[in-house]
Parts: sequence; structure tokens; C-alpha cells
Amino acid sequence: MTAPVLEASAIGKVFTGRREGKIHHHHALRQVSASLSEGEILGIVGESGSGKTTLSRIMIGIESASSGEIAFRGTPVRRQADWRALRRQVQYVFQDPFTALCPTMRIGKALAEPLAIHGICPTSERQQRVAQMLEMVGLHPDIAGRLPAQLSGGQRQRVNLARALMLEPQVLICDEIVSGLDVSVQAQVLALLVELQKKLGLSLIFISHDLRVIRYLCDRVLVMHLGEVVEQGATEQVFDAPSHNYTRALLAAIPDRNRVTDTPI
Ligand SMILES: Nc1ncnc2c1ncn2[C@@H]1O[C@H](COP(=O)(O)OP(=O)(O)O)[C@@H](O)[C@H]1O
Ligand SMILES: [Mg+2]
Repeated sequence: MTAPVLEASAIGKVFTGRREGKIHHHHALRQVSASLSEGEILGIVGESGSGKTTLSRIMIGIESASSGEIAFRGTPVRRQADWRALRRQVQYVFQDPFTALCPTMRIGKALAEPLAIHGICPTSERQQRVAQMLEMVGLHPDIAGRLPAQLSGGQRQRVNLARALMLEPQVLICDEIVSGLDVSVQAQVLALLVELQKKLGLSLIFISHDLRVIRYLCDRVLVMHLGEVVEQGATEQVFDAPSHNYTRALLAAIPDRNRVTDTPI
């Protein structure tokens, strides 16, 4: 059997802070394991504060785990050099494109930046790569001359996706990337994501608190609650026959369950 592309094993995370003058330990994650197979779209769902972002940040090394281990294609990621190598192959798309994009940097420069940092494309060819990538995410190449504030929310999220794809990663982690968008724009960005995933053969982790979006998009789903994985399985199985009370409660909270099957929104 081939190893998962990305795997988290028994991850624990304790945040230490002060509360009412005393040291307080908050267990954000307990014994969380998750694995992403080649070409798969894995959904991570759970209410706000359940630990989804913390887990994904640990999976790319932005945050360190208190316990447990991350492996990339079957090899544990331990040394700084391993993390550097992983960060080229695994890209993260942030929830809020405004925080991800520098407000004073033109889009073309922001997209060329990962190429410059990694020195992987001659300067003369960078603008052409930028234009190709803008087209790939359904934007006109002229967008390169604009600033983030001159774009709509949907356009900004497309630019954010383009930026993550500049280094031709194998894995994309998308953290609530459609949550701030209007419903119709959400559907367009999700359709683009599916198209890109197929075209580029990406493996994808898609994080959302919205079960309808997860059902539309994901092959497999992992349900998190208070820092633990309470259920995981094929999307259909989890939605049709949830085994955990928390998953049932989440499903019951969807406003119009009859519409869930066909549309993302
Ligand atoms: N840097 C931090 N310091 C202290 N607590 C944090 C930090 N980041 C997250 N947490 C806490 O960890 C828990 C999980 O947060 P998070 O991973 O952001 O959840 P989710 O993405 O599912 O909303 C929350 O209780 C949150 O308050
Ligand atoms: Mg989050």
C-alpha cells in the first residue's frame, strides 16, 4: 500500500496562557490523527474552536505540536530541512484573503514573490508565469497591475489560490476559504477548486464549518469536536449514517437538509 501523502499521528496541542493570574493550559487538540491520500479531497468539519485551524497549521509546521508526529509520503517530518521541503509541496490558503495579501503590493508582484523567494524561475519568465496562473484561476491577466483593495472578495480569493499554486504544490490546505463570500460567489470558487484539483492532480484538505459545502466537495470527512476527532469516513457514509451524536447534532442543525445533496449552497 502506498503511504498517505500527508499524515498526522496522535497530535496533541496545549496552549499555555494566563487566566485570572494563574497559568492555564488549554488542550486544543488531543490524540488527533488524520491522513490524506493521493488525489483525495479530505474535509475537516466542526464548529468554531474545535481545533481545525490549529491542526492544519501543525500539518504544515506554522505551529508546533505538543505531541505526535507529521509524516509526508511516509517519512516523518522532524528536522528544519524536512519542514522546508514540505512547505514547498504543501501550500496553505488562508480564510481571509485580506490578511494573506499585502495591501500595498500589486497582485503581479504578490504572485511572483514565491518564485523569487525560492529562486525557481528566471526573472524574465516570472511575469509570464503570473499571467498563466491568473488565467488558470479564471482572472484576466490585467489584474496583475491592481492592488488587493481594487478586487472583489471572489477575485481576491482566486488570487489567493493562484498564489498558493505558483510553486506547483502537491497538496493544498484550504481553511474556510469560501466562508466570507456571498453564496453565489462561494459556488463559483468551489467549482474552480474542483476543476483545479482534477487538472493539477492535487490532494486537498478542505476545512469548513459548513456541512453543505463539505458534502458537495469531499471524498472523505473527518468530524472534530473540542479538539478530538469524533468520527471519520467516506462522506456519504458519515452523512447518511452518522455514528456519533455530535455529527447527528451538526447534521440536524443544517437549515434545509433536503437541499444538501445537490448543491453546495
Ligand atoms: N495561539 C493560541 N493561543 C491560545 N489558544 C489558542 C491559540 N490558537 C487557538 N487557540 C484555541 O484553540 C482552540 C482551537 O482553535 P482553532 O484551531 O482556531 O479552532 P477552529 O479552527 O476549529 O475554529 C480554541 O479554543 C482557540 O481559542
Ligand atoms: Mg479556524
